[in-house]
Amino acid sequence: MKVLLFGGAGYIGTHVSLAFLDRKDTVGIFDNLSSGLRSNVDSRCLFFEGDILDKERVREVLSQGWDAVIHLAAFKAAGESMIKPFKYSENNITGSLNLITECVKAGIKNFILSSSAAVYGEPAYLPVDEDHPKHPTNYYGYTKLCIEENLRWYSELKDFNYVSLRYFNAAGYDNDGRMLGLEKNPANLIPVVMEVAAGIRPNLLVFGNDYDTADGTGVRDYVHVTDLAQGHVMAADYVMKNQENLVVNLGSEYGLSVQQIIDSAREITGKTIEVQYVERRPGDPAKLVASSQKAREVLGWKAEHSSVDSIIASTWKVYEANSVKAGSLQ
Ligand code: WQD
Repeated sequence: MKVLLFGGAGYIGTHVSLAFLDRKDTVGIFDNLSSGLRSNVDSRCLFFEGDILDKERVREVLSQGWDAVIHLAAFKAAGESMIKPFKYSENNITGSLNLITECVKAGIKNFILSSSAAVYGEPAYLPVDEDHPKHPTNYYGYTKLCIEENLRWYSELKDFNYVSLRYFNAAGYDNDGRMLGLEKNPANLIPVVMEVAAGIRPNLLVFGNDYDTADGTGVRDYVHVTDLAQGHVMAADYVMKNQENLVVNLGSEYGLSVQQIIDSAREITGKTIEVQYVERRPGDPAKLVASSQKAREVLGWKAEHSSVDSIIASTWKVYEANSVKAGSLQ
């Protein structure tokens, strides 16, 4: 299979590329390197620098002929999307629509979208399945829902099929240590905790410890990025074989609180990890845990690497190598 990954030099994208390379597929990476790292791109990939807002460049790369396209080129910090909405509308909506339109025009029939549990918003019931109401509580989640809706319409109107993968909280690093570059200015919990443990950041701000959860801190469904990557391979095979649309959750189905993540990180890293409990972050639901039953039944997908220890230990391996002590801070 020849697969082109937009945003493929990012944290998730590089793990997805490894999953395709591991089975000898041909992988193209299209990335503007705004947050992705060129050094993370495996040398076996074909690399194309470019921006999804640049229609000409997108058209030029698509013209090389691909069996499937995977769109991972979105900004993903829910908190930031509430402060900088234009950054998110331009890239996540305008850029994504640019990309999808050029794909349909280029005759691409198999499209996989990196979507998000953020499309659901405050859960009306748990675990959250794909039929759960979609009322995003942050602008990032809305941008993902908007693109899903456009994919649905394009598929109605054109010879075009898609799979939308609603990630819950992506975390962890390749267990074989093949990914060494750190995310630039992360906002997600686990990389922030790891930056504190590695001495890169002074402390962790816990956004609220007065939620209606066992220890008062937010509960999320953390899913290992290697499990997510495998989900993309299965999704590409599915849409190419069946020419049918599919929307599935990819989550571990296990809820962990912020405090549990901190406790596990302290145990695994042996570091103090300074913490300050502050106000809630606007748009954060108290608890969000997936039902991934549909992904299991339709794709045969399961989260095999998503235990808290596997997630924290695989992440610490990369951050420790970059720690201030190791003197190799990049
Ligand atoms: C997790 C928990 C925070 C940072 C995001 C986005 C999107 C999606 C999943 C892909 C929450 C708390 C966090 C910090 C904290 N990914 N927290 N201090 O908001 O659940 O979802 O990731 O689509 O990126 O929707 O992830 O890691 O930001 O927060 O206390 O410095 O950690 O309040 O309870 P979130 P997160």
